[in-house]
Order: sequence, then C-alpha cells, then structure tokens
Amino acid sequence: MLSEQLLKTSRRRSFTNYLMKKRKLMVNLNINDQFISVPAGTTVLAAAQKLKITIPTLCNHPDLCVAGNCRVCVVEQKGARTLIASCATPVSEGMDIHTNTLKVRNARKHIVELLLSEHRSDCTKCYKNTKCELQALANEFAFGDTIFLDLVEDHQYSIDRSSPSFIKDDSKCIRCQRCVRTCSELQYISAIAVANKGAHQKISSFHDRPMSHVVCTNCGQCVNRCPTGALVEKTYIDQVWDAIYDPEKHVVVQTAPAVRVALGEDLGYDPGERVTGKMVSALRQVGFDSVLDTDFSADLTIMEEGTELLTRLKKALVEGDKKTRIPMFTSCSPGWIKFIEHKYPDFLPNLSTCKSPQQMFGALAKTYFAKKRKLDPSKIVSVSVMPCTAKKFEADRPEMRASGYKDIDYVLTTRELAVMIKQAGIDFRVLKPSNYDSIMGESTGAAAIFGATGGVMEAALRTAYEIVTGREVPFNNLNITPIRGLEGVKEATIKIEGCTPEWKFLEGVELKVAIAHGLVNANKIMKMVKQGKAPYHFIEIMACPGGCIGGGGQPIPTSTEIRENRIKAIYSEDEHMILRKSHENPEVMILYKEFLDKPNSHKAHELLHTHYVERDDY
Ligand code: SF4
Ligand code: SF4
Ligand code: SF4
Ligand code: FES
Repeated sequence: MLSEQLLKTSRRRSFTNYLMKKRKLMVNLNINDQFISVPAGTTVLAAAQKLKITIPTLCNHPDLCVAGNCRVCVVEQKGARTLIASCATPVSEGMDIHTNTLKVRNARKHIVELLLSEHRSDCTKCYKNTKCELQALANEFAFGDTIFLDLVEDHQYSIDRSSPSFIKDDSKCIRCQRCVRTCSELQYISAIAVANKGAHQKISSFHDRPMSHVVCTNCGQCVNRCPTGALVEKTYIDQVWDAIYDPEKHVVVQTAPAVRVALGEDLGYDPGERVTGKMVSALRQVGFDSVLDTDFSADLTIMEEGTELLTRLKKALVEGDKKTRIPMFTSCSPGWIKFIEHKYPDFLPNLSTCKSPQQMFGALAKTYFAKKRKLDPSKIVSVSVMPCTAKKFEADRPEMRASGYKDIDYVLTTRELAVMIKQAGIDFRVLKPSNYDSIMGESTGAAAIFGATGGVMEAALRTAYEIVTGREVPFNNLNITPIRGLEGVKEATIKIEGCTPEWKFLEGVELKVAIAHGLVNANKIMKMVKQGKAPYHFIEIMACPGGCIGGGGQPIPTSTEIRENRIKAIYSEDEHMILRKSHENPEVMILYKEFLDKPNSHKAHELLHTHYVERDDY
C-alpha cells in the first residue's frame, strides 16, 4: 500500500543552504548613504540589490559561481585605493560604498568601450538586438566618441553553425565565461573552455572542433545565460513562415507542457503566468492549420513507458532474466540522452526505448493524424514549440523517421514563438483564450506536470499505481508532493501492496525511484549506478535545471525564483484540469483502439520506440 508514511524522501541539503542556516552574524554598512544590515558573506552587489540600487553586471549570473572578470560592476569603497568588483566582494562591517561616482562611471564607460572595440557591433542585424546585455550597457555608458581603436577588422573570428540547436559567433563574445561555468558547474560536461591568452583569448571546444562534433548535449543552458549574441538558438522561424504561406501544406503545431507557463514572460507577463488558452488562439492567428498538444503524447508516453517498466520488473524480479536492465531511465529529455550516449554508453540498455513526447507526436502526425484527417502525409509540415534547444537536435536524428518522413520538420523554442507572435502583429493581451483542436489535442493534468522536475515520475506513479492495485494513488488530490521541488536529487521508496490478481507478482515489492534534474545531478546518480550503489528501479532524469521549465529555449533571464514560479504554474495547470491521470485521456484510448492496438504493441514499437548510439567522450 502506497502511503505518505511509506514514501520516504531523502533530500540532499545543499552546502549553501547549510551555510546560510549557520550564518547568524549580521554586517552593517552604508550604500549610497543608505544603511543596511545583511548576513556576513553577502556580496556588495547583493546588498545593493536589497536596497533596490542597480549596479550593472555582465559576467555575474545568479545560477553560477563568481567569476569577477568583467569589472563592469565596480563601485567605490571609501578608504580603498582602487575600485572594487561588487559581485566578488563580500560586505564588511562599516563599509561605505558609492555606486555612482564620477570615478565609477568613467571606469564602467572605459570597460564597455574596450569590450566594444573588439566587438562586431552589427546590432540591427543581430538576433539579440534589444535583448542584449552588452547593448543595454553600451546605450547607458558608451555612446559618442571613444578613445579606443576599433580592433574588429584585425581579428579572425569564426562563426560555428554546425550544431542544429545553436550558433556560436565568436565575434560577439565578450569572454565573460558564463557559458563555460554553465557547462561545467550546472551540466558537468565542459564541452567548452577558455583557450589562449590576452587578445587571442576565446571560448573553444576540444581541439577547436565544431560544436556538432564534441561532447555538447545541445541543452542550450549556455545560450540561455550568454549576455550577448555570441550564443543564440539556431532559428527556423523563416522556414515555418514559408510553410504557413504555402497553400499546398497543412502545418501542424504542437506545444510542450513547459511553454505555456513561460511564453508570457517574453510578451510582457510576470514569470509563472499561465497563458495556455491565449497561446492557442495566437497560434491560430499566426496561421497554423492544426493547433495540437504535446501533452496528448505525454499521456501516451506514460502508457508506453509505464507498460515497459512493469514488463521489465516482471522479467527482472519474477523471471530472473539477467539481460533485462534495472533501473530503467526515462528518455524524454534529449539533452540527457546525448549525455548518457557520450558519458555512460554502457548503460544505454537501461534507457526506456520510448521516444520523447515530441517525437511520438511527430510519428503519429504523419500516420494516424493524416489518415484520420484524410491528408497526404507528404503535405504535412510538423512543427513543435519546445522549451528546449536539444529538441532541434533530436528532431534531426536519423532514427526519427518512423512515419516514412521526417517526423518533426521544425522545432521552435518558446523564445522563437514569442518572436513570431510579435512579427504577426498580434496583441497577445487582448486575445480570447481558446482550446486545442482535436484529435491529438486532448490531455490530462498528468501530462501538464511533465514540464517540472519529478513530473514524469508523478504522472507514471498516478497511472502505474492504479493499474497495479485498481485504486487511486493515495495522496491528497493526487498530488505526490514528496517528489516535487528543486532538490538536485530526490529519492522515494514505495511499498506495493493490495495488487490485483494480474499484478500479484509485484505484491510486497518496495519500488525505489529517484529523480534528478540538471546534468550535474544526473552525473551523481550515474556514478552511483556505475558503482552498483543505486538501489533504484526507475529513475527520472531531465537535462535542465528544474526540468523543462528551465530549458535552454525558455525566455531569458532565468534564476531559481523564476523557475519556482514556472513550477507553481505547472502544478496549477494540473489542478485546473478535469482529467488528471494519463490512462483516462479519451483520445489516447481511441488511438489504441483504432490504430495502435495496445501499449507496447508491434505497431507502437515501430512508431513510438527507438534505439540509442554510443558516442565519443570529448
Ligand atoms: S551581441 Fe549585442 S551588442 Fe553585439 S551586435 Fe548583437 S545586439 Fe549588438
Ligand atoms: S559565448 Fe557568451 S557567455 Fe560565453 S564567454 Fe562569450 S559572451 Fe560570455
Ligand atoms: S549546449 Fe549545453 S552541453 Fe553544449 S556547450 Fe552549452 S551548456 Fe555545454
Ligand atoms: S559582474 Fe562583477 S566582475 Fe563581472
């Protein structure tokens, strides 16, 4: 019997939280003649932010360790010989700080001008135009004449377009190293690093290889944190407009669960605003012929993946089949898939063979949907809107052509959709909400929570528990709260009791599950699995911090607070749904009855399952 008492979670307390709790000492200081008292260890920058005093930054990012290399955040400390970098200086008792003196303003102006002297400033043609942190600083500090020479012509810059997910343009790079810290600290990959010194310093890959030929997972977390146009998603906006304007084409669009709780941020709303109905109306006005939902295929994923898990458990635990690999890993996150292909290829058989919801949808769009709608599949253009840049890579994988065509033609990020809505001249605020089209537009709350870390596990438990015991998962209002939240690694043990006769082999089994988000945490779990110290049966892993709500294609900026607001919106979306368990999705039931037969059937395997490839670790 599953119960809150039996579902024991063990949470890893972060070192930072531990220090914060221990930290009792308060420090008093003045900033711009305003008194403030803050805990010891707080930086001058953070103290100023508490007073709502803005200090410009470039290399600093709330998710990353302090680099202190750009010096844009310098401030004057009374009694100090030189200006200090506010992001890298902890407060001390009696400090007297001034953030806007002539000396400070001149220093910032010279720093920005120096950066611009090596920068290919073609702002009007740049994808980051109006959204660039360097441009904003230039507007504030560096207009008019400069004392520095323009060195752009002297440099040989390269633009790497090899990745299907993003473009790396060295001529726009200010060497703040946010990308390098993101890739190593948050993602544990280090696909990029600083090469060379002085004027020749650049962000480079292993032996300066193209990004498509290194260990990069295409997660886009670096893109999300790059302050300039040096790292931007590879955009397919023009190709999608071309398809929309082509009268021969039927353009189908699907939207991922995490898009609806973040799109608003790029259209003037606060983080955490749910804009599902308005987004659907906007997609119709943009001109898509069918507006459908990835949540439909998220429900389908639960049916396929849940059945696969129960089958694996039977083989491994009852039949003693040594070839059946446990734990089973989820396979929804293409950044995670590429990570394991590069870093832990010996464990590829542990991955669920299920395609991600995006790709399940794509395979059905040009088969089942085409048949039901009497459309020629060669005339269907399948577009997905995703919170993720790795989905662009996933759509390009040669395995993803089960329909006989490229299952997904174009992947747009949440940010790209916001651009298209603006290009179409749509006033998003006044739009009336509307519903997705049918078929492949219906979904449940279980699918909605796919967007947050722990959501796939919760959706799977809601369905698997009910299938095995015939009873609803015994949590208040179906909310399995112990596996929610932003801890990097979450664990839970569930004792299964009271099984129906068909599932008696699971009677008394203590199902152990784990959840990780961000590849640095995925790596922690994989180390345990490799050492034989992971007692789990089922592990959910999402490549991005917070899960898909923190995906590399989501609106910029990102921070823990923003991700928390998006997660709250995801659970609110779930609670507003009439159906909240994947196996109750009526359109999924019809799909099995009319087309696929049953979960894990031969046809389901052909269309909805895949295989993986080992890749080099550099
Ligand atoms: S990166 Fe920023 S400053 Fe540079 S060209 Fe693009 S918008 Fe302008
Ligand atoms: S690519 Fe972007 S994030 Fe990386 S160092 Fe250059 S400007 Fe900074
Ligand atoms: S996309 Fe992800 S893996 Fe690739 S360089 Fe950026 S952060 Fe690293
Ligand atoms: S933001 Fe402080 S040194 Fe760069």
